[in-house]
Amino acid sequence: MPSLSGVVFTLFPVLPVVAAAGWWAAPGAGTANRLRTVEVTLTASPARLTLQPGVTSDVFAYNGRVPGPTLELKEGDRVVVHFRNELAEPSTIHWHGLHIPASADGSPFHPVAPGTQHDYVFTIPIGSAGTYWYHPHPHHLTGHQVAKGLYGAIIVRADDDPLPASLPERLLVLSDNRFLEDGSIDIRDPLKPSGRVDAENGREGEVVFVNGEVRPTLSIRSGQVQRWRIVNASAARMYRLSLRGHRFLHVGSDGGLFEHPVDTTEVVLAVGERVELLVRGSGIPGDRTVLEALPYDRYIPQTRPVNWREPRDLLVLQYTDESPVPPVTIPGRLRPVPALDTTRVTAKRLMVLTQHLINGQSMDLTRVDERARLGATEIWEIENLVGMDHPFHLHGFQFQVIDRNGVPEPFRSWKDVVNVPKHQTVRFIVRYDDHPGKWMYHCHILDHEDHGMMGVLEVTR
Ligand code: C2O
Ligand code: CU
Ligand code: CU
Repeated sequence: MPSLSGVVFTLFPVLPVVAAAGWWAAPGAGTANRLRTVEVTLTASPARLTLQPGVTSDVFAYNGRVPGPTLELKEGDRVVVHFRNELAEPSTIHWHGLHIPASADGSPFHPVAPGTQHDYVFTIPIGSAGTYWYHPHPHHLTGHQVAKGLYGAIIVRADDDPLPASLPERLLVLSDNRFLEDGSIDIRDPLKPSGRVDAENGREGEVVFVNGEVRPTLSIRSGQVQRWRIVNASAARMYRLSLRGHRFLHVGSDGGLFEHPVDTTEVVLAVGERVELLVRGSGIPGDRTVLEALPYDRYIPQTRPVNWREPRDLLVLQYTDESPVPPVTIPGRLRPVPALDTTRVTAKRLMVLTQHLINGQSMDLTRVDERARLGATEIWEIENLVGMDHPFHLHGFQFQVIDRNGVPEPFRSWKDVVNVPKHQTVRFIVRYDDHPGKWMYHCHILDHEDHGMMGVLEVTR
């Protein structure tokens, strides 16, 4: 029986498999055709946990943990998640970025009532290997439930992953939170003056977590190349990531690997986005360095935090005393990312972002804002009219960014979130190749989404 624990590279425990059945190899087929069912239970319930060192807080947790357990999957897996909602409020689990049927999307259309349970059943498409995440998505309550602790990572692996299997992997789930003196999570009423800044900026906290820990230490051996998967699970905070004294090889984004690695010194990770970075241990044994979040100004001047210019240390990278390992060769070609065909575009959609609105409208579950045909290829133009960044997310379909403020995207990648900086315009191309139904699109600053900066795309046959 395959066990998820056989593929653990994470810093915290992976989800235990309740049952894994239907594992077989089709006659004459390679391993890529092996199918298995991964069956897990995720229970959302109130819990009392130590999030910040030395203090306990009342939280919401998946299976008693914050972040929730990491879901380790493979392309082709059939996934059955038994979700139990033991909260006193409706919830859902949304599988952020996965290309799966609308009925399994955990969107605000399908709330799971308090005290009830719901099964999510879906299959992981071939070609979708990458880093994803899961979080609640009940109407108006997403920000609240994520702030209380409900979020977790998903790793999808491919049998034909082009990167050397010998690279040690690290998963970094970034989040932040804010606490009151007594340890309780500080969530403010957006209608009260004290909550106004949260409603405007999106809620940020002074305590930044990596996998639920504050400034953890990771180790690396001199010469080693590590594969880091990073998820931004924050409600509003964006991270301009830099590893002091080091460069990154940026190899992947939301929907998986690029065609070629890209050498860089920093990466901006907007809310909801993921990256895969290769980190080369160019230091000597015993060295140490820090992964920093450098200042990034996503704010309007009126509500910009006073300390926004201060870099933050996210984690310490400590070199072991072991002798350097021999260099590893990283392939220059990773996998094809076929360009969506712009000559087949049948519609162009304009999304105008203003504060808390898309095209002047606030989210209404009874309204369909955009209608499209299954199989259609379209261009979306997202125009941000205001002086604050809005990270735009589309459910269900990975897209390719065409240009940002008229500057062609330097390389192709599959994305489900794209940051639209203040007063800028971003265009992407998307094809609805499968899965008719109603899909959400929204700003992923959770306070903005909860206050209506969301719309509905209906894809029909
Ligand atoms: Cu990460 Cu609509 O979601
Ligand atoms: Cu999503
Ligand atoms: Cu926004």
